[in-house]
Amino acid sequence: MAVDPNMSNLTVLGAQWGDEGKGKVVDLFSEHFDLVARYQGGHNAGHTVRIGERRIILKLVPSGILRPRKRVVVGNGVVIDPAALLEEIDALEAAGIQTTGRLFISNRAHVIFPFHPLLESISEKRPGRVAIGTTSRGIGPCYEDKVARRGIRLADLLDRESFRNLFRNLAEDKNTLRAAFRLGEPLELAKVQEQYEAYAERLRPMVTDTARLLNEAIAGGKRVLFEGAQGAMLDIDHGTYPFVTSSSACAGGVATGTGVPPSRIGGVVGVSKAYITRVGGGPFPTEASSEAGQELREHGHEYGAVTGRPRRCGWFDAPLVRYTAMINGFEALVITKLDVLDHFAEIPVCVGYRLQGQPLGEMPATNQTLSQVEPVYQTLPGWSTPTSGMTSYRALPGRARDYLRFLQEQAGVEIGAISTGDERRQTILIRGSKLEKLLQG
Ligand code: GDP
Ligand code: IMO
Ligand code: MG
Repeated sequence: MAVDPNMSNLTVLGAQWGDEGKGKVVDLFSEHFDLVARYQGGHNAGHTVRIGERRIILKLVPSGILRPRKRVVVGNGVVIDPAALLEEIDALEAAGIQTTGRLFISNRAHVIFPFHPLLESISEKRPGRVAIGTTSRGIGPCYEDKVARRGIRLADLLDRESFRNLFRNLAEDKNTLRAAFRLGEPLELAKVQEQYEAYAERLRPMVTDTARLLNEAIAGGKRVLFEGAQGAMLDIDHGTYPFVTSSSACAGGVATGTGVPPSRIGGVVGVSKAYITRVGGGPFPTEASSEAGQELREHGHEYGAVTGRPRRCGWFDAPLVRYTAMINGFEALVITKLDVLDHFAEIPVCVGYRLQGQPLGEMPATNQTLSQVEPVYQTLPGWSTPTSGMTSYRALPGRARDYLRFLQEQAGVEIGAISTGDERRQTILIRGSKLEKLLQG
C-alpha cells in the first residue's frame, strides 16, 4: 500500500504531568510502524510495559524495542547517560531482547557526566532555593550545558582527541563550581575520562546521524512513531514553569529533537489518565484530599517507575487537558487507568478554574497564580463494577461510558482508545475513530 509520507507518522505524548501510560500505548501502537523514535528527555523517564507476565521498564530506549522487527532511534534532543544506557541495553539483552542492529543513537545527542547530577544539588538541596523535586539524574544541568554551547555530544565523545580537550575544559569548570559550593569530593577526572572512553567504544556501532536515518526511512515509505517522555505540562516552555523538566516534551519538540521536519510529522495523540498524577513539586489544582489521594495511589500503584517516589494523585483536570490539546493539536486521546476508578462511588472532574471567585478562562502563566486557582468540580457517579482488563467498549458499565463521554466533551478531543489494565492487550480501540485511521496510516 502506498503511504503518504506527510501523514503516516504519529506522535504519542503525555497530556498531563507524565506517567500517563505512554510506554504501554507506544508498545501497543508500534505494531503499525516501522521505527519508534524518542525526541527528548533522558533516563528521568520510566516507561512501563507489561506483556503477559513480563514487566519491562524502559528509560532511554524507545518502547518499540519489544517488537523484534522494529528499529528504534534515540534522537538528538535526548540527553544520554552512557552508563544508564549501557545498563539498559545489557538488561534488555539479558531478557532476550536483541538490540544490535535495531537501536540507533544520534551522534548529536548530548552526554550526561557524573558532575551533572552532582551540580543538580546546587539548585535542589541548598537552603533558600526552590527545589523542583527532580529525578536527580543530571538532566537539567546537561541541557544547561547544551544551551550554553559548552556541552559534549556523542560525536565528540567518539573522537578521542577532541573529547579529551572538551572534557578537560568542562570538567575543570565543574570542579571549580563543586569546590565553591562545597559539594562532595573532588571528581577524579582522569578516571571519569577513561570510563567515558570505554563507553564510547561500546556505543560506537549504534551512533549515527539519526536525522538522516529517519528522513531516508520516511522517504522510502516507512512509518515512524514518535514517543514522548514526561508530559506536556512538564514541557520547558509550555509547562508549569519552573516546575518542569528541561526539554520540549510537546509535539513541537519532535522536529527539533529528531531532525524530521514539521511537514513530515503527521498525527498527534495525547495520553491521559482517567484521573491525574504528578511527581515532584509544583502547583496541582485538582490534587485530591489525602484520603482520596491515598486511595488513588494504592489502586493505581502510583509510585515512580524511576525513583520509587509516591506520586501525588488527583482528579481529571479538563482545563489542563484542553490546554495541552491546544498546544499539541491532539487529534485523539487515549484514556488510561480507567480501571483504577472502579473503586470510587463518586468521581469529581474539574471542568473550570476560578480565581478570587471569578471564572478564569485561561491557563495561568505563573505557578503563584496556578497554585491559587480553585477548581470547579462536577461530580459524576461511579460504576462500582470491575472494568479491569475489559477489551470491549460496549461491555463497559454504562456509567463508565458516561464518564468517558463526559471527559471527551470536556477535553474537546475524541477518545480513540481506553486502557483498562497494564497488560498490552487490556485496551479498547474505538472502531471507526480518528485514532483507528491514524494507526492505519
Ligand atoms: P509512562 O511514563 O507514561 O510510560 O507511564 P509509567 O509507566 O511511568 O506509569 C504508568 C503505570 O501505569 C505503569 O505502571 C503501567 O504499567 C500502568 N498502567 C498503564 N496503563 C494502565 C491501565 O490502564 N490500568 C492500570 N491499572 N495500570 C496501567
Ligand atoms: P515519564 O516519561 C513524571 C518530573 C520530576 C520533576 C520534574 C523535573 O516517565 O512520564 P527532571 O529530573 O526531569 O529535571 O525533573 O519533572 N519528571 C517526571 N515526572 N514522569 C516523568 O517521565 C518525569 N520526568 C521528570 O519529578 O518534578
Ligand atoms: Mg513514567
